Amino acid sequence: MLDSHHSFWNQWSRHYQGFSETIEPYRAAQRALAEGAVIALDDAVTRPALTVLDVGGGAGNLIGPMLTVLARKRRSLAGVRYVLTDGAKDMTTLAEARLASLRSAFPEVDLTVLHADTLADGFEATRAGGPADLVVSSWNIEYYPSDLRLEIIRRLAHLAGPSGVVAFSSLVQLPQPLTLREVLMPLGQAQVLQALLTGGLGRMRKVIASLRQIADFGAAVSAGDFPEKPTRDELRQLAAQAGLPSASTEYQLFGTSVMVFARKDGTRPGPLPRPAISSMLIGRPGYEGHSEIVTFGSYFRELLRNPPAI
Ligand SMILES: C[S@@+](CC[C@H](N)C(=O)[O-])C[C@H]1O[C@@H](n2cnc3c(N)ncnc32)[C@H](O)[C@@H]1O
Repeated sequence: MLDSHHSFWNQWSRHYQGFSETIEPYRAAQRALAEGAVIALDDAVTRPALTVLDVGGGAGNLIGPMLTVLARKRRSLAGVRYVLTDGAKDMTTLAEARLASLRSAFPEVDLTVLHADTLADGFEATRAGGPADLVVSSWNIEYYPSDLRLEIIRRLAHLAGPSGVVAFSSLVQLPQPLTLREVLMPLGQAQVLQALLTGGLGRMRKVIASLRQIADFGAAVSAGDFPEKPTRDELRQLAAQAGLPSASTEYQLFGTSVMVFARKDGTRPGPLPRPAISSMLIGRPGYEGHSEIVTFGSYFRELLRNPPAI
C-alpha cells in the first residue's frame, strides 16, 4: 500500500497551483516535458484517436502545455482524450475548476478529471478509459521512498498500451550544499524585475506572492516526512528495471529536475532538446558537458524577449 500523502497535497494544493502557473521556470519545465513526450510519441502523435493519461496531474498545470504542443503536431485535436487523475480531492477540485476555460481553448478535446488513487495496487487503465498512448506524470515519484519508485514506474508502464509512451519528471538530488531554493530563487527574482518593468507594481506583487508560496511550500516539504530525492542515474536504472531499457533522460527546471521518456516497444525516443542549466550547477558531478547555462542576467534578458503570460 503506497502512502500517497493525500492530506499533504490537499493542504498545499492552492499554493502549488499558484506558483506553478505564475513562476516561469515551472511553466517552462512543463512545456519541456510536453515537448519531450511528443518527440517520444513520434508518428503515433497523429493517431486519429489518442489518449493521454496524466497521473497525479494535480491542479492540471500540464494540460495546457501538453495540448498546445499536441496541437502543433496534429491536423486537429479531434480524437484526443485527456484524462487527469489525482488522489487528492482538493487538487481535482482545482483541476475541475479549470475545465471550462480549457474546453473553450481546446473545444475538440475530450477532457476528464478523475479523483482516484491511480498508483494504488489494482487501479486498472479501464477506469481511465483504457490503456493510454501516453502516460505522463510530472513531479510525483520523488515524494515516494526509493524502494517504491520502481513499483511506481512499473505501474505507469502498465497503464500504457503495448506501443505506448511513458514520460515522467522528478526533482533530483542537488550537489551539496546547494538547495532547490538557492538554485531557482535568482531566476524567480529575474521574473520579479521583469514583471515590474513590463507590468508595473500589480504584476510584480503577483510574482512576489508566488515566490512566497514556493518558500512556504518548500518549508512544508522539508518539515514533512519525505524521502531523499532520486539521482538521474537512479531514475535511469529504475526505468530499465521496470522494463523500459531504452529510456532517454534530460534535465529540465535548469538542472534541478530530470525528465524520463520511454517507449514500451523498446525503441529509443528521438533526440531531446537540451535545456540550459543554472550557472550554479555547471561543472558539478552529473552536469558535465553542459555548456549552455543560465544566470540572473541572461534569464532576465530572455524574459524580456519572451515575456511569460501571467
Ligand atoms: C507535486 S504534485 C504535482 C502535480 C502535477 N503533476 C504538476 O506537475 O503540477 C504531486 C501530485 O501527485 C498526486 N499523487 C501522488 N500519489 C498519487 C497516487 N497514488 N494517485 C494519484 N495521484 C497521486 C498528489 O495528490 C499531487 O497532486
